[in-house]
Amino acid sequence: MSLRVAILISGGGSNMVRLVETMTGDHPARPVLVLSNRPDAGGLQKARDLGVEADVVDHKPFSGDRAAFEAALTERLERAKPDIICLAGFMRVLTAGFVERWQGRMLNIHPSLLPKYKGLDTHARAIAAGDTQAGCSVHLVTPELDDGPILGQASVPIHDDDTPQSLAERVLVQEHQLYPRVLREFAAGLTD
Ligand code: GAR
Repeated sequence: MSLRVAILISGGGSNMVRLVETMTGDHPARPVLVLSNRPDAGGLQKARDLGVEADVVDHKPFSGDRAAFEAALTERLERAKPDIICLAGFMRVLTAGFVERWQGRMLNIHPSLLPKYKGLDTHARAIAAGDTQAGCSVHLVTPELDDGPILGQASVPIHDDDTPQSLAERVLVQEHQLYPRVLREFAAGLTD
């Protein structure tokens, strides 16, 4: 039996698309739900076009009540019965309670070479620091932001004329390779 994967997004969902596209054939997992906290996330329609159920738990009506938002998120996720949750450009900070509910089974992709540049504006910060390398990391999610055990990383050079945008584009190409590879290995490890 295949493992069930839910993918959480907030935006365009290019990483989500790559994860969905690669969960075929002898892959040990299958996508069962794409869930967004934003009704206007471009990834929702992409998921439906790929034949994956897509739904929204809008954070806005909960206005500041993070626990209530996460309770709604949990209720929707539990209906999908996921074995693994992949955060793929999901831009909400999660409380310890939510993270602990899924701990050991929730992955995130972050656009930096962790432990460098947790949080936002990773590419601008790498350029400002004069770094020569940037990259992306897939890690297990723990209550501390962008802090869990690292499962895989990929790096790219930073060029002298890079802008945060040009660097983000170069890193994203690597994200699309890294996340599917790590998810496959992680899922295979759960089925051993
Ligand atoms: C990706 O670059 C991902 O690493 C980043 O958001 C982008 C989403 O793009 N995630 C974070 O910054 C998480 N803190 P996508 O919607 O096209 O996959």
